[in-house]
Amino acid sequence: MLERTTTPFLELRDVHKRFGGVTALGGVDLEVYPGEVVALVGDNGAGKSTLVKTISGAIHADEGDFFVQGRHVSLGNPQAAAALGIATVYQDLALCENLDVVANLFLGAELGRAPFFGVLRRLREPEMNRIARETLGSLSVNLPSLDRPVAGLSGGQRQAVAVGRALLWGSKLVMLDEPTAALGVQQTAQVLELVRRLAAQGQAILLISHSLPDVFAVADRICVLRLGKNAGTFARRETNVDEVVSAMTGGLTLAGGR
Ligand SMILES: Nc1ncnc2c1ncn2[C@@H]1O[C@H](COP(=O)(O)OP(=O)(O)O)[C@@H](O)[C@H]1O
Ligand SMILES: [Mg+2]
Repeated sequence: MLERTTTPFLELRDVHKRFGGVTALGGVDLEVYPGEVVALVGDNGAGKSTLVKTISGAIHADEGDFFVQGRHVSLGNPQAAAALGIATVYQDLALCENLDVVANLFLGAELGRAPFFGVLRRLREPEMNRIARETLGSLSVNLPSLDRPVAGLSGGQRQAVAVGRALLWGSKLVMLDEPTAALGVQQTAQVLELVRRLAAQGQAILLISHSLPDVFAVADRICVLRLGKNAGTFARRETNVDEVVSAMTGGLTLAGGR
């Protein structure tokens, strides 16, 4: 069970975001604890992506308070969020196809500045390979080779590389936007296992997913957004698909559905 004696890693209070006349977020609260997998669910347009973007610093909330480890913070830009240990794995993963696994893990990091592709990489290569192996090893990720282009990897392996990169940056909260949307059954299972292992290591996880089977397989809590507002938060062990769907749809159920 969840340890609730700790402070949430992330806490949001009354977050608002409007786009012109559209209220994407109309006062959302959210908490994610260390070691906890929170699934963020809701119909299209419910505000899930907007919420994640306010947390990653990609967009600025109009109103609301953000706390990281109990401290009031400003997540004004992606650098600020990253510095606080918040990492986002977007659906497109943003991997460089032609670069190998090690290069992708260090992409954008301090070691990854331009010289890294030349002399400096050769100097630092043993160290970088070691860190890469350790990071992926800690996730029990098996890749055929770390020095081949990621273009040759499966969808699940790519997801693992993107998550590994987040860990390498020292993240404490990993947000995953539809990580299994493009994956087959077996790779989906691998990614869900990876999510559980991350949580077991103490990472806080915020998972956006359309797949309620996935959500019920990995989440500790399920947070439902509807029309930009909280529509219920459920402990996974104490709820069921009907209840979550009902919250997502505002009480509407399909005819004959139960
Ligand atoms: N950049 C934007 N400009 C205008 N409207 C936006 C923008 N981003 C999102 N919206 C609107 O905000 C609402 C929430 O969208 P979004 O957060 O993408 O929902 P979800 O990810 O749950 O499908 C929708 O009505 C969407 O059209
Ligand atoms: Mg979305």
